[in-house]
Amino acid sequence: MSKKPIIVFEGIEGSGKSHHITKVSKYLDKKKIEYIKIREPGGSLNSEKIRRLILNKKSNFNVQTDLLLYLASRSENINLIKKFYKKKIILIDRFTDSTIAYQHYGMGVNLKIINMINKFLLKSIKVNFTFLNVVDKKNLIQRLKKRKSLNRYDKFNASFYIKVQRGFLKLAKSNEKFYKIIDSNLNIKKNEDLIINQVKKLIK
Ligand code: TMP
Repeated sequence: MSKKPIIVFEGIEGSGKSHHITKVSKYLDKKKIEYIKIREPGGSLNSEKIRRLILNKKSNFNVQTDLLLYLASRSENINLIKKFYKKKIILIDRFTDSTIAYQHYGMGVNLKIINMINKFLLKSIKVNFTFLNVVDKKNLIQRLKKRKSLNRYDKFNASFYIKVQRGFLKLAKSNEKFYKIIDSNLNIKKNEDLIINQVKKLIK
């Protein structure tokens, strides 16, 4: 395992992934450990431009266009990732699994095409570990209601997100060694400790 790993935080809306990535970055700041943090879509300057286009509530692209825009946004991040790969810890809020979970399992786009373009973009870059945050339907519905600044991908119904989550779980279960599933229905502080302890192991 690389001591400067790529660590990805995945999960559907309201699963708590952004909370946990923030906690990890605060921990690394406190320990004065160098890292970079990006999100997808977004992260670099050009990717943020594409993010605004995809997620703008007035956009109404078809599912294939969405796929190509998410991948275009990733393409603009790859140089940034390459620059720091194995030199600094890289934390990513959503990455390739989100494309498979949302565009394939959620929206039915062909999986082979997604895998092929991801491979084409990533080449030898490999994610070392993924925290998959999951939430049950009851908590999901409550959390979706509380969300304030809604974007275009926040407006789906709970059943869609649960379908996407099943896709995420499939990916995690097919490669268990490289994933930790975080049950965000449980105590948040315990989950924070669980994640920080795992991060310590990954960077030791
Ligand atoms: P977020 O940044 O608030 O998590 O929102 C980004 C949205 O984009 C979220 O609904 C998931 C979606 N998304 C995809 O559908 N495919 C992708 O490849 C990525 C990275 C995100």
